[in-house]
Amino acid sequence: MKRIAIFASGNGSNFEALAAACEKRRIDAETVLCVCDHPGAYVTERARRKGIRTLEFHPKSYGSKKEYEEMILEELKKENVDLICLAGYMRIVGATLLDAFPERILNIHPSLLPAFPGVDAIGQALNYGVKVFGVTVHFVDNTLDGGKIISQAAIPYNGDDREEIETMVHAREHALYVETVANIINSINFNSKQNDNQRN
Ligand code: GRF
Repeated sequence: MKRIAIFASGNGSNFEALAAACEKRRIDAETVLCVCDHPGAYVTERARRKGIRTLEFHPKSYGSKKEYEEMILEELKKENVDLICLAGYMRIVGATLLDAFPERILNIHPSLLPAFPGVDAIGQALNYGVKVFGVTVHFVDNTLDGGKIISQAAIPYNGDDREEIETMVHAREHALYVETVANIINSINFNSKQNDNQRN
């Protein structure tokens, strides 16, 4: 069974959606670790309730990104993690983790990238007056919400009620992230079976 780590900084509704989908085997993997750079964030409470180990750390207690990512990498290795899902993790991932997990780190973003990267994507889209909102799952690289796009969902909405569009976007995020991670895990499993067959 493949092993997933989820990185989050805040509320953790996407964490919850992914972890629940693993429990129900809608994703053929296990959530083994919650990595959180804001000790005490609500996501850590969600993880505790699900009995998922949490790694909480203060980035400022480390000399550099490299130092705290080396600490995280140690823990990911101990847990034999196959895939990392960022879910509201408010940091740019550095070379230490990117090099250790090539094409194995995903992120979800509440806009149709490359439009509206960065913070408050929904607010940015509302200010622009867009009529089609959306969500994107992409591979992570060393740029802000850059990296190759894996999947997207469009949400036509001709209004300006922030709460209403936020509710629609978050619901769509949960569905798209679960579906996309399930597909990625299936393709990792398929490729490792192919490799096993070729070896035998
Ligand atoms: C989501 O909108 C996600 O797309 C973005 O951060 C938000 C996290 O929400 N990257 P939650 O913590 O999963 O509820």
